[in-house]
Formats: sequence, C-alpha cells, structure tokens
Amino acid sequence: VKKIAVLTSGGDSQGMNAAVRAVVRSGLFHGLEVFAVQRGYAGLINDDIRPMDLRSVGDIIQRGGTILQTARCKEFMTPEGQQIAADNLRKRGIDGLVVIGGDGSYQGANKLNKLGIKTMGLPGTIDNDIPFTDFTIGFDTAVSIVVDAINKLRDTMSSHERSSIVEVMGRHCGEIALYAGLASGAETILVPEVPFDLTEVSQRMVDNFNLGKRHSIILVAEGVCKGEDIATEITKNTGIEPRVTVLGHIQRGGTPTHNDRILASSLGDFAVRKLIEGESGKGCGIIKGELVLTDIDKVVNTKRGFNMELYELAKRLSQ
Ligand code: F6P
Repeated sequence: VKKIAVLTSGGDSQGMNAAVRAVVRSGLFHGLEVFAVQRGYAGLINDDIRPMDLRSVGDIIQRGGTILQTARCKEFMTPEGQQIAADNLRKRGIDGLVVIGGDGSYQGANKLNKLGIKTMGLPGTIDNDIPFTDFTIGFDTAVSIVVDAINKLRDTMSSHERSSIVEVMGRHCGEIALYAGLASGAETILVPEVPFDLTEVSQRMVDNFNLGKRHSIILVAEGVCKGEDIATEITKNTGIEPRVTVLGHIQRGGTPTHNDRILASSLGDFAVRKLIEGESGKGCGIIKGELVLTDIDKVVNTKRGFNMELYELAKRLSQ
C-alpha cells in the first residue's frame, strides 16, 4: 500500500483519538500518504476525505470523543452505498483503510475488504464486546468512570443505609458491569450472560443489611433490563426502595486512561505495519500482552466469551 485512510465509526470511545494519531503518524513515518475520513462510513459515501500531516493529529492524544466524528450510516448498509465508498477511495489511489469502531464497523470493513480495499479493524468501543482481543479501546476508561461514580454513591448510600442500583452501558454484554462491579465491591452484578433470580437478589440484599452492611450496590448492565425495573421488583419483594442511577453517556466521555492511550497507540501502529506487510481483512487485538491479527470474517461471526472466573470472584468477595 502507498496511500491509506483512517475513519472512526459507530459509538465513539475514549482513546479513538490516540488511535487516529497512531495510524497517521505511523503511516507518515513509513512513507505512506495518509488521509482521514470524516463521520465514518457516511464520510466515505459523501467523499469527505482529506490528507493528513503530522500536525493534523497534534494535541489530541488526551482528548475523548473523536476528531474524525462518527455516524451510524444506513446508506452504507446497501451494496450500492458500499460500492460508492470503495470508488471514492480508489479514485484517490487509496488502497488501505483502517476502521476504528465496534461490531457494526467491523462488518463494514469486511464488506469493503470484499470489494478489494485492504482493510484493518481496530476495536474501538467501551463495551469490550469484540472477540479475539482481551480489551477494546475505551473500555478501561469507561470502567474507571463507573468505579468513580460508585465511590461517590457509596458515601451517600452508607450515610442513609440505602441500597443503590447502578445501570451501566453494554448493549449486549456485561463486561463493564463485571469489571466495574469487581473493582468497586458491588454486592450483585447482573449481566446478560448469566441468568439470575430476582427473589434471590432481593433476599441477598436483606441478608446483607442483617449482617451489618450499611449499603448495598447492584450493578445492572443495560443489556439485561432497566435499573428501574429491578428496583420495582425488589421493592415488591422486600419493601426496600433502592435508589437508581443511570450513568448513560457519561461513560463514553472524558480523557482516556493511560491504558487506553497505550492500547490505541500500539494497535494503530500495528495496523499500519501489517497493511504495509500486505495483510488485509483483519481485526487487530491484544491477547495476553501480544498484538494479534484475526480474520475479520471470523471476528464478526464469533461471540465473545464471558469471564465466569471473574464473575465468581466478584461474588465470593462481596459477601
Ligand atoms: O456500543 C457502545 C454503546 O455506548 C453501548 O454501550 C450503548 O448501548 C450504545 O452505544 C448507545 O448508543 P447511542 O450512543 O447511539 O445511544
């Protein structure tokens, strides 16, 4: 490849800017021409593509969001849209594309790869729901935000001897709930991957108060149900009225942690080097500290496993 482009797509995540910076600077370092696409796949269709230089990505490593903006683009879902996108890259001689995003973005990269554009996927999502990588870019920051919020909730909940239900993001998966729950000592973690019984959850809350606990925290992943629904059931079962906090998009903002910046920098550089080596149609990831490539086809057709060991650990330690 001689010319490459980079785009961010789907829900943004902290560290996307660090990844864009790494792709641009690594590409330029290796003598490539590097372009940026604005607003994800919508920008490819609308031909919103511009050349980048070293300074275009200055002062962004510490910023949340994405300077390239992002969009969920319906037109790109159609074969016609995908063809226009590929043609817009080709007419500039761009033959490599790095896509930073989640599951839907990977599916787009897979389509473009089949149209002859050499694509690399970087896992950019707070959800940590992409397989073949231990962590996605943004997850570490999102978990830190949730843990910080729970620290604050604990103060007021303990004072009032209340119980708290915290609803966190994760469209189809419980990774944020699991990691934040373990890190903050939540009594109960409700995730879509593990069935649960609300009568037991309610009883546990009563038992905890009887054991002398001054507060009780239930973390619920949005993929399970609304925190309010859990609260209603618990009140029915116990008479206790838990307070519900929905953290929402707060979890997607703010400065990325050093872990996310380092992950984004390593993966961005890795993607460029692999494109230069002739790789294409791959997702980049990190497994046990090693950078790895996996066929995008395989990534989009595999469901990420759930770490039951961590889940059981959180349960044992929260008694
Ligand atoms: O995929 C990231 C994510 O933040 C999910 O956790 C959440 O369900 C979804 O995006 C929210 O999407 P939107 O920003 O479109 O409301």
